[in-house]
Amino acid sequence: MAYGWESICGAPVASGGVAEMFQAPKGTRDILPPESGRWQELVAVFAEVFGRAAYGLVQNPMFEDIGVFQRLGEGTEVVRKEMYDFFDKGDRHLALRPEGTASVVRAFNQHRPTVPWKVWYLTPCFRYEEPQAGRFRQHHQVGAEAIGSADPDLDVEVIALQHDFYRALGLSQLSLRLNSMGSPGDRQAYASRLAAWLGRRRGELDEADRVNAADHPLRVLDSKRERTMAAVADAPLIVDCLSNEAAAHFERVQAGLDALGVGYEIDPRLVRGLDYYTHSTWEFAAGALTSAQNAVGGGGRYDGLAESLGGKPAPGVGFGAGIERILLAAEAEDALAEAGTAVDVFVVDVTGGEAGRDISFELRRRGISADRAFDARSMKAQMKVADRSGARLALLVGPDEMAAGTVTLRHLRSGGGQTPLARADVADEVAAQLAQG
Ligand code: HAM
Repeated sequence: MAYGWESICGAPVASGGVAEMFQAPKGTRDILPPESGRWQELVAVFAEVFGRAAYGLVQNPMFEDIGVFQRLGEGTEVVRKEMYDFFDKGDRHLALRPEGTASVVRAFNQHRPTVPWKVWYLTPCFRYEEPQAGRFRQHHQVGAEAIGSADPDLDVEVIALQHDFYRALGLSQLSLRLNSMGSPGDRQAYASRLAAWLGRRRGELDEADRVNAADHPLRVLDSKRERTMAAVADAPLIVDCLSNEAAAHFERVQAGLDALGVGYEIDPRLVRGLDYYTHSTWEFAAGALTSAQNAVGGGGRYDGLAESLGGKPAPGVGFGAGIERILLAAEAEDALAEAGTAVDVFVVDVTGGEAGRDISFELRRRGISADRAFDARSMKAQMKVADRSGARLALLVGPDEMAAGTVTLRHLRSGGGQTPLARADVADEVAAQLAQG
């Protein structure tokens, strides 16, 4: 599977033909079969895990008024530096979605569904980042949001479902870091305290982080630069600034995860890159991924977001999980089997293709997977494709069969026995053979 950054960064443009041959834009990739089969499986598992907990699918536009994302906060790098924004022909300032939550909350405000509104989504996300292993300019997320309840048990539900989703994929080398950002008031008080503390230590920070020290102090705490990391080792922590109400919320979340057997580690330095978080925040990392980009999903509560997007106050909680990184982790752990496009039956027709066309459709309409060859190729060439297709059975139609009104059924895997079938009985016979296993 070509997920390495080499394949997405400046690959040379091959120019075999007359016109320049285009490549996918930098930081993006094509997802082709059979890899896309693993993708489909991942999404199916996600839909099942969340469907069982009454989460419905939500589909939002891929672009929004840029204001929707700007409200995520100017301290968010994704918003400040990485947005794909543009003016449309009606001079509207729009942006491609860098993440899923803002659109879901915008839709909640717009449609006022009954609460708690529990939804899941699958979406591409666009961020103008420097591509590297596990980091793309277009990545894809599956995610879930539950809006309209402040109950900490809803945080527990979302986290435990996310955990169960990874488990259902067969991933085992995961760790969960958990923190609380407190109430909006706690968060603000903490940010001021931290800014003041950073102000006194400014000289010790990596130069690149000094610009954020006053206005976006939480970003400094999140810095991966060694000098800064050493300097903030004894910075004040949000857990020490939690109000009673926020501390009780956090305790209830921990008790819920304990009860459901979801292992976690409290990380008081986990602040995450988005500014809207209050109370619970968390991140799952994949131990099997050696690259720096090992976060396979993160989320949190965002009790002020609906209001900041112009709606009535409505608490919410959710997460997003990066499909590309999960597939990388699954590959490293040898977890998710590659669901191929194998069919049960392959129809080989050397009489002109009409029989191939009709029989393959007759089977498909009976619910049997079937494929056929095109371009009137030779028997030998068609048999090769049949072998490669993974089919258990081949149906052969040559001039003799055509004249006799029959079809020859051949077992491709178990010894290769052959049986003539009356043309009219083909679908019934094939169904019976497949049922025998
Ligand atoms: P996020 O942490 O920015 O959160 O992204 C969620 C996940 O998307 C990450 O853990 C990672 O797996 C994946 N991801 C992010 N950026 C990239 C990238 N450039 N290339 C590949 N994968 C990437 C959010 O987006 C929030 N909306 C999550 C959330 C939902 N919080 C509450 N509700």
